[in-house]
Amino acid sequence: MSFVRKAIAEMAGYVPGEQPKGVPLVKLNTNENPYPPSPKVFEALREFDASCLRLYSSPASDAVREAAAEVYGMKPEQFLIGNGSDDLLTIALRTFVGEGERLAFAEPSYSLYPVLGELQGAQKRPVPLTENFELPDNAAELAGDAKLFLFARPNAPTGNPTPLPVVEKLCREFAGVVWIDEAYADFSGESCLSFVNRFPNVVVSRTLSKSYSLAGLRLGIACAPGALIQEMLKVKDSYNVDRLAQTLAVAALRDQAYMKENCRRICETRDWLAGKLVSLGCKVLPSATNFLFVQPKHPAPELFAGLRGKGYLVRYFALPRIDQYLRITIGTREDMEGFLAAFQELDQ
Ligand SMILES: Cc1ncc(COP(=O)(O)O)c(C=O)c1O
Repeated sequence: MSFVRKAIAEMAGYVPGEQPKGVPLVKLNTNENPYPPSPKVFEALREFDASCLRLYSSPASDAVREAAAEVYGMKPEQFLIGNGSDDLLTIALRTFVGEGERLAFAEPSYSLYPVLGELQGAQKRPVPLTENFELPDNAAELAGDAKLFLFARPNAPTGNPTPLPVVEKLCREFAGVVWIDEAYADFSGESCLSFVNRFPNVVVSRTLSKSYSLAGLRLGIACAPGALIQEMLKVKDSYNVDRLAQTLAVAALRDQAYMKENCRRICETRDWLAGKLVSLGCKVLPSATNFLFVQPKHPAPELFAGLRGKGYLVRYFALPRIDQYLRITIGTREDMEGFLAAFQELDQ
């Protein structure tokens, strides 16, 4: 279409996981949390005075920055708050990668990364993960003169974390900004946050969508050296996080015990399910997240369709290297017992 920028007309666009309407499916396709948000979030919602919505929200989400600073042991000015971490990633592209410049990203990884590069008119520099889906030792060399390197730790959709020394080497050797997407880090018990105070070029992002059960709220948190945050603040929408989201995010962040207990329960269910699937003869990748990446005995697209027919929606990616796998979000123990029974019938 001639009205549209060439880069947009030529791109396919990101396809989010299905949000089924009117069909009773157990949703195991977008790594949402099966447990409700913290009771403190419900309480803050009840107490929320809607008359304040007359006024714009705090531009930099000051109260969320302060709560994040307390939780992560950093300074408030080291945080950028976004409308989900997808918003933060968009801000990163617009801040660090000019049109025609290079964006490096791990592959296979979060499928939004290349799409963001296309939106920005950037040149894409995929860095292939190793056979075990870890960053290669020479990742910085492969990324070359890219301005920004995006990768997830633990990785999505494979679930495994690249060893910390490999990440550290990338941070040391890469000349651009290294963006460590820690959307799933609360399930892994490990983090790269300390790198933010050791390297001038490192950003670590978190989200309330997974471990805090707040995917529908849309709240992402990036932590970086203050100098990088200053520049990204110039790029974001003036009021990118609304008043209600800021209030509820603070309530959620202040209830660390609730979040951690839910992560523990989910990891317990995940490890139980992984053991069962292995004993059925599936290949299950090691996971430090709230999902499993599984290669069934039968072709993955067949299993995907069969599971849907039995009421379980999982995620299938028709992409190189991962088209033989299914990504299964961990629900409650009860959900996963039902899932296992359905799976067993299909993958004999
Ligand atoms: C690796 C990774 N990063 C970021 C996101 C997006 O998170 P948010 O809901 O904060 O935009 C996801 C969502 O699935 C993800 O898997």
